Amino acid sequence: MSEQTYSPGLAGVIAGETQIACVDQGKLLYRGYPIADLAESVTFEEVAHLLLFGELPNQKQLDRVKATLDQYRDLDPAIVDAIRNIPKAAPMMDVLRSMVSYAGHFDPVQGDDAKANQERSLWLTAQIASIIAARYRLMNGNEPVSPKAGLSHAAQILYQCHGEEPTPLAAELIDLTLILYAEHDFNASTFTARVITSTMSDIVSSVVGGIGALKGPLHGGANEAAMEMLEQFKSAEEASAWLQDAFAQKKKVMGFGHRVYKHGDHRATILERKLRKLAHEKGQDQWMEIYDAIKEPMEQQKKIYPNVDYPCGLTYYLLGLPLDLYTPLFVASRVTGWCAHCLEQAADNRIYRPLSIYQGHAERSVPPMSER
Ligand SMILES: CC(C)(COP(=O)(O)OP(=O)(O)OC[C@H]1O[C@@H](n2cnc3c(N)ncnc32)[C@H](O)[C@@H]1OP(=O)(O)O)[C@@H](O)C(=O)NCCC(=O)NCCS
Repeated sequence: MSEQTYSPGLAGVIAGETQIACVDQGKLLYRGYPIADLAESVTFEEVAHLLLFGELPNQKQLDRVKATLDQYRDLDPAIVDAIRNIPKAAPMMDVLRSMVSYAGHFDPVQGDDAKANQERSLWLTAQIASIIAARYRLMNGNEPVSPKAGLSHAAQILYQCHGEEPTPLAAELIDLTLILYAEHDFNASTFTARVITSTMSDIVSSVVGGIGALKGPLHGGANEAAMEMLEQFKSAEEASAWLQDAFAQKKKVMGFGHRVYKHGDHRATILERKLRKLAHEKGQDQWMEIYDAIKEPMEQQKKIYPNVDYPCGLTYYLLGLPLDLYTPLFVASRVTGWCAHCLEQAADNRIYRPLSIYQGHAERSVPPMSER
C-alpha cells in the first residue's frame, strides 16, 4: 500500500454513502432540510421521525411516534435495581453505556428486519432518556419518577430528572439542543455504530459502541469539558489570561474546532443566539462576557471557531443542569442519528475492513524462553 493513500484519522477519506445528513462547509442538512429551518419550525420528535423513517411526519405519524415513545418509557425494575447497584463514583456516561447494554436483555421488540429496528430505535430513544433520569435521581438520593404521558421528549427528560414539569423556556431549549445534536453524518460515534452494524451485529450493540465513542472529550464529551473550562473563571479577564497561557502551551480549547467545519459550525451560531437571550433573561450576562473572552481571540488569533458543544455547555449550565448530564443528553438525541445510520448500513451492507501500514519488526524467529 502506498504512503499516499494513508490519512491519519481518516481525514478527507470517503468511507461510505449516506442519504441522512449532508455536512459541508457552512451547511448542515438532515435529509435535505437545512438545520436552521428545522431548529426554527419542528420538534425533536419530528426530527426523530425524519431521520428514522425518511420524511417529516404528518400529524398521524407524529402522534404515533409520541405514543410509541410514551409506551416504551418505563424501565424494567431490574434495570432500576442495576442502576442502583452501580458504584456512586461511576461517571454517568459509563452508567449509560452499561445500562443500555443491560436494557437490551429486556428488548420488547420482536424481529430484526428494518421495520422492527425502526420500532427498536424508538424504544432505545425512550429508554435512554429514562435511564439518564433514573440515575440522576438515584445519585441525588431520590427514587426515579414515573414518566408522564403526553409531555414532549425534552420536557419528559427534565420532568423525570426533577419530578416537576420544566418551564416552557427550559423545555424549548432542551428540545433545540436535541434537534441540533441528533445527526452529523460520519462522525466518530456514528462511524463506530455503522462499523458494528456492518458485521451484522445488532442495533443495541451499535448504540452501546456509539456511546463509548461519544463519551471522549474530543467528541461528545466536549460540552461538559467546555463548561468545566468556563466554570473556573470568575471574570472575562481571568478567561483571557487563561487563554493566552493555553495558546503558549498549545493546549486544546474544548468546544472549538471541527474536522469538517473550518469556518464555523452552523449549530453553534443557532444555539448561541438563544443562549445570549437566556443569559440576559436570567440576569447572567457576565457569563457571556467570559464566553466571548474565549471565543473572540480563538476566532481572531487562531481562526478556530466554536462548535455546538461550546454554547451547549453554558446553555445547560444556565438551565441549572449538572455537568455530568451534558454528554448523556447528547446521547439522548444522537441515538436517533445512530439508529438511522444502522438502518441505512444494514440496507446496503459491506463489512468495514480497512488496511493499515505495518510499522513493526521485520519478520523474525521466535527465541526459546532461555534467550528472551
Ligand atoms: C474537533 C477536533 C477533534 C478536530 O480535530 P482535527 O480535525 O484533527 O483538527 P486538527 O487537530 O487537525 O486541527 C488543526 C490545527 O488546529 C488546532 N486546533 C484544533 N482544534 C483546536 C482547539 N479546540 N484548541 C486549540 N487548537 C485547536 C490543532 O492543534 C491543529 O494545530 P496544528 O496544525 O498547529 O497542529 C479538534 O478541533 C478538537 O480537539 N477540538 C476540541 C474538542 C471538541 O470541541 N470536540 C467537539 C467536536 S464537535
